[in-house]
Amino acid sequence: MASSSNPPPDDLSGEGASQPAPHFGERGRVQVPGGDSVDLMGYQFSFQQNLEAGTGKSVFIEADSLPVQRDLDWESVTSSVTNYRTENGRTYHAYKDGSYFYPNDIDEQDRQQFEHVVLQHLMGGRLYFAPFSQERPPKRILDIGTGTGIWAVEMGFEYPTAKVLGTDLSAIQPTDVPLNVEFYVEDTRDPWHWYRQEDRFDYIHTRMTLGCWEDVKTDVVQKSFDQLEPGGWFEAQDLLSTILCDDGTMADDNPLKLHFEDIADATASEGRPLRSGDRWRRACEEVGFVDVTEYVFKIPINGWPRELRWKELGKMWEANFLHGIQAVTYGPLGRIRNLSRNQMEMLLLDVRKSISDTSVHAYQKFFIVLGRKPFPDEERHNPHHTEDTPMADS
Ligand SMILES: C[S@@+](CC[C@H](N)C(=O)[O-])C[C@H]1O[C@@H](n2cnc3c(N)ncnc32)[C@H](O)[C@@H]1O
Repeated sequence: MASSSNPPPDDLSGEGASQPAPHFGERGRVQVPGGDSVDLMGYQFSFQQNLEAGTGKSVFIEADSLPVQRDLDWESVTSSVTNYRTENGRTYHAYKDGSYFYPNDIDEQDRQQFEHVVLQHLMGGRLYFAPFSQERPPKRILDIGTGTGIWAVEMGFEYPTAKVLGTDLSAIQPTDVPLNVEFYVEDTRDPWHWYRQEDRFDYIHTRMTLGCWEDVKTDVVQKSFDQLEPGGWFEAQDLLSTILCDDGTMADDNPLKLHFEDIADATASEGRPLRSGDRWRRACEEVGFVDVTEYVFKIPINGWPRELRWKELGKMWEANFLHGIQAVTYGPLGRIRNLSRNQMEMLLLDVRKSISDTSVHAYQKFFIVLGRKPFPDEERHNPHHTEDTPMADS
């Protein structure tokens, strides 16, 4: 196992970090909905248009069409899945109603899309750390708790020959996606009997699923191990919700720190602990993954750092935080602590001030954990070997 803190994205060193960085600009031809194929090499990207801004040419900026009624027209999406619960002005998933505390509405979807951009910034543009490349592409990818599906869609573009499946409790993914990407409503905590033995994955990924699981090992890691083909990779990218500080500038009664401790305690008492980011590595080792590697990034809460790269990241995280603080508060404190909307908004007044207080040098940790399923002849050397239980045909 290797562990490192904030590895420079272009200069990764150590175990598990030797793969070439993905070539985001060389995607070649891709299929687009309707059956046509487009040569992306000659495609006029919007950022190219923006580059013309200084030339005196007029730049047309397209308006966001949200909020839209997303096109949920595939047969499997029934009203039991889309009759979302409304509570305190937010909407929540309907399938397995109540099992996940955080909203799925347009506001939360917008926040997730922005968070994707921030995480890309944090990781130097990388979508993943597993050792795949255009020369060694994955074949079958599963994205667990896919949310808006943005990671799955970008992987679909990155690897047009791969099949990408994204699963979630909520059917909030767009239908206008690459032909090699599909989404399904599914509770990952259920047995995975619908995956067939011959449909094993060579890459299983999950990101920002803190608060989704009772136990990352039994709910996700063991099942992923079983459903990966030998040599396949598992990767978890997850935030540790705890608010941390290294230089004593955060008081013990800091409102943001106390707020997250309260939410973490409340959600743990209901079997959906928010603190899971630091559990993935051990879970991977225990179920029998090999080459287990952990990277730990620090994300500043706001623009307090001096160095521009971290200041910029902190400002983005502050925006993400301010956008999402209501979403992360209402479910746990409303349902578990029985606080009213007014009481929660009163609490949030001080919490929001803390988020933007640059005199406090607070940060959170973001974990990336990778593990490879060993080949059969490797398994006897693995001290944490668990039986590879083949899934029954469905
Ligand atoms: C914070 S979002 C992260 C979305 C996405 N992975 C990303 O990084 O943009 C967590 C997602 O996990 C989904 N989720 C929660 N519990 C789940 C479960 N038991 N099975 C499948 N998905 C679940 C939620 O519906 C939500 O969309």
